[in-house]
Amino acid sequence: MGERQVATTLASELAPDELACLLEEAQRANRGGRFLEIGTAAGGTLCQLIRCLPPDRRPPIVVVDPMSYFRDQLQTVRRNLSQNGIDPGSVDFRTSTSAAAYPKAAAAGERYDFILVDGAHKILPVTQDLRWTRLLKPGGVVCFHDYGDAFKGVKWNVDRLVRRHENYRIEKVVSRLAVVRKLSESRAQECDGADLIWALAFSPLLQWERSYRKRRARWAAR
Ligand SMILES: C[S@@+](CC[C@H](N)C(=O)[O-])C[C@H]1O[C@@H](n2cnc3c(N)ncnc32)[C@H](O)[C@@H]1O
Repeated sequence: MGERQVATTLASELAPDELACLLEEAQRANRGGRFLEIGTAAGGTLCQLIRCLPPDRRPPIVVVDPMSYFRDQLQTVRRNLSQNGIDPGSVDFRTSTSAAAYPKAAAAGERYDFILVDGAHKILPVTQDLRWTRLLKPGGVVCFHDYGDAFKGVKWNVDRLVRRHENYRIEKVVSRLAVVRKLSESRAQECDGADLIWALAFSPLLQWERSYRKRRARWAAR
């Protein structure tokens, strides 16, 4: 991923209907556990997420992001929070990929009520994001942005998760937001070595498909 020069927007990157659905799910999921956003960009959705929760019952919020999406990303997110009346110090920022941040969170026994997965959309990083669902409490919700055929890395991972783990269910899809509920504790790991091999095997195919689509769009624009 090449670094963009500056943030193009401080607003949420979710469409209005996706954001409304996300906030409704977040309010319902607020039951004493942590909230997690994987991939925050300028923190537009993060601000909305925090603001929709009652100040006296706000859960600990964790953000995992390498913060190299554009120049001064972390400072931009902190400024966005301040401008929205939120103390940036109240958010637990982990400047890291989700794969690198996961082992420490798991070792600390963290438990989450709500997870938004909106980081790198290629198949392998999304598979690695899925490891965090192990820390999701039963009844909790994990939302995936960009669930659809344009982002097969996201769609294939979500479909595979619910196909292989009967304790996960896709509750709804609003535009490109998939809401998945964890119904009970998992018997098997959500993401193990076999899942990583699966992702690695399909990665070149999806890479080829992406570049083919880009080339076709360029030819069509001529
Ligand atoms: C599509 S943007 C997130 C948009 C944001 N959730 C919103 O709704 O406004 C993707 C973000 O994922 C981050 N990212 C990229 N790779 C990541 C990874 N492996 N783990 C966690 N975050 C990642 C990028 O730095 C970027 O901030």
